[in-house]
Amino acid sequence: MNTEIETISTASYLTCSNCGKIYDIQRQQTFAHCCNQPLITHYNNNKFTKVHLKNKPNNLWRYAAMLPVFDNSNIISLEEGFTPMHTLHKIPAKYAINHLYIKDEGGNPTGSFKARGLSVAISKAKELGIEHCIIPTAGNAGGAMSAYCAKAGIKATVVMPKTSAQLIKEEVQLLGGQLIEVNGFIQDCGKRVQQIAAETGAFDMSTMKEPYRLEGKKTLGYEIAEQFNWQLPDVIIYPTGGGTGLIGMWKAFEELQQMQWLTSNKKTRMVIVQTENCNPMIQMIEKGKKDATFQPAYSIANGLVVPTPFAEKSMLRVIAESNGTGIVVSETDIQQSIREMARTEGLLLSPEGAAAFAGFKKLAEKKWIEEQETVCIVNTGSWYKYH
Ligand SMILES: Cc1ncc(COP(=O)(O)O)c(C=O)c1O
Ligand SMILES: [Zn+2]
Repeated sequence: MNTEIETISTASYLTCSNCGKIYDIQRQQTFAHCCNQPLITHYNNNKFTKVHLKNKPNNLWRYAAMLPVFDNSNIISLEEGFTPMHTLHKIPAKYAINHLYIKDEGGNPTGSFKARGLSVAISKAKELGIEHCIIPTAGNAGGAMSAYCAKAGIKATVVMPKTSAQLIKEEVQLLGGQLIEVNGFIQDCGKRVQQIAAETGAFDMSTMKEPYRLEGKKTLGYEIAEQFNWQLPDVIIYPTGGGTGLIGMWKAFEELQQMQWLTSNKKTRMVIVQTENCNPMIQMIEKGKKDATFQPAYSIANGLVVPTPFAEKSMLRVIAESNGTGIVVSETDIQQSIREMARTEGLLLSPEGAAAFAGFKKLAEKKWIEEQETVCIVNTGSWYKYH
C-alpha cells in the first residue's frame, strides 16, 4: 500500500565532492567535471524534524524531505526500503560479541539494496525528462534499473559481464530492459556504456557518475539510525564494490547529526569488505596505494568486483573520518559463511552479505571489535538470485 507522500523535498544545490564548486540542482547533472569526482546533494534541512516521520510510508520515501525529487507525481516506488534488522542470537556468543545485527536488504524489490538507489535515481530521471537510461552492472543494479524504468516508462539498456548469474539476465529481459553482455568485468561494461551513450544520447547511470543513486542508498543509513532508535551502532560492516552504500550511509549520519536527530555523538566505525579476487580499496587502505586499480578474477560475490571504483577518494574519506578499516575475505570464507549463517540463524545471505559476515569474524578474532560493541552487518541482497 502506498501511503500519501507529502512532497517536502528540501534539496537545494549540488557541490563537487573535492573542491566544493556549486552545481545547479534544477538541471540534469552527471559528476563534477571540475575535479572528475562525484557530486554531492545538499539540503535546507533545518525545518525537517522527527515529527515529520509520523504517518509517512513504510518505504524509503518516508525520508522524502531529504531526497531530491520535488514533485511527488514523479516518484517511482515499488515499496523499497524499510527492511528488517535481525538480532542474531547464537553467532554473537560464538565470536564473543554481545550485540550483533543484520540489516537484511534481500527483501527489496528485485532482491537487492540496489532498489534504493534506482528508485530515487529513476524518479529524478523522470522529473528531469530523461527518456533512456543505460547502466554498466555486475547484475543487481541492472535488474533494479529495469524494474523502475518499466514503471516509469523509460527505456532501459543494461550492460553486464557474460559471467553474471543467468537468473539476473532473465530478470532484466523480463522487465523489458535491453540486455548487452560483455566479455570482461564491470569496467569493460563501463567503456561500452560510454560508447552507446555517446551514440544514442542515453543517460549514463554508472555508480557515482550521477548524483542520485547515492541519495537513495543513503536511506540505508537513515533506516539503521531509526531502527537503533537514533543511536548509531559502533561498527557497520559493508561489502563494497563502487561504494555507494558506504558513502551514502556516512552522508546520512552527517545529515542526521546536523539535524540533531541522533541521541549521542558516537561515530560509527565503517568497514569495507572486499574479496581476495578484487580488493582495490584494501590495497589503498592497507598498503597506501595511490590509485584504486586491481587485476580482478571472478568472484561469487559479483557485486564486489569493481577494479577501478570512480569514488575511491570519497570511500577513503569515510574510512579516515570514521576511524574505520578494510578487510579481505576469500571465496572459501564466503561459501563457509553462507552455510554458517543459514544453519545457525536461519538466514540466507547473498555472497556479498556473506563476505561482510566473514569480514566481521576476522575483525572479532583480531579484537578490532570489542565484546561490548554493537555491530551491524549489511546483507545487501538475496541468496535466491545467484543460481
Ligand atoms: C548484492 C550486492 N552487494 C554489494 C554490492 C556493492 O555495492 P556498491 O557498489 O554500492 O559498493 C553490489 C553491487 O553490485 C551488490 O549487487
Ligand atoms: Zn571540483
